[in-house]
Amino acid sequence: MPTVSPPWTYALQLPQDPRAPGIARHTLRAVLNAHSLARLVESAELLASELVTNALRHTDGPYGLRLRAVGQGRIRLGVWDTSPDLPAPFEGLPQRPAPDAEGGRGLCLVAHCADAWGATALPQGGKLLWVELGGGRA
Ligand SMILES: Nc1ncnc2c1ncn2[C@@H]1O[C@H](COP(=O)(O)OP(=O)(O)OP(=O)(O)O)[C@@H](O)[C@H]1O
Ligand SMILES: [Mg+2]
Repeated sequence: MPTVSPPWTYALQLPQDPRAPGIARHTLRAVLNAHSLARLVESAELLASELVTNALRHTDGPYGLRLRAVGQGRIRLGVWDTSPDLPAPFEGLPQRPAPDAEGGRGLCLVAHCADAWGATALPQGGKLLWVELGGGRA
C-alpha cells in the first residue's frame, strides 16, 4: 500500500534581481528532495527556470514561484507575475520562432516537456502560468 502524503504548497516571492532564478532553482530542488521527489528535479528545474527567467526579463514587478502536490508523485509549478500579457503558447497560439531568431524558444520547450500547462488571470491583476509533471492525478 503506497503512503499517501498530505497535500502541500510552497510559495516564494522573487525580486527583479539576476540572482532570483538561481535561488528559485535551489529552493525547488530542496523541496522536491525533501518530499522524496528527486526524480522530478531535473525537469522541474528546467521548467521553473524558464518561467522564472521570463518573469524577470519580460515583466517589471515582483513575481513568484508556487509549488504544490496535486496527486501521488505529481506536482504543479506556477510562476505568477504582475503583467496581464499572456505569452503566445499559453494563449493556445502556436509559437514558431524563425530559424535564425535568437530567442523565443523557451516556452516551446516548456510546452513540450510539461505533462499539462495553462494560464490563469489573477484577480489582483497579472497572471499565473502553470505546468504539471510527474505521477498520476489526485
Ligand atoms: N511572463 C511573461 N509575461 C509577458 N510576456 C512574456 C512572459 N514570458 C514570455 N513572454 C513573451 O513571450 C515571448 C516568448 O517567450 P520565450 O521564453 O519562448 O522566449 P524568450 O524569453 O524571448 O527567449 P528564450 O528562448 O531565451 O527563452 C517573449 O519574448 C515575451 O515577449
Ligand atoms: Mg524565455
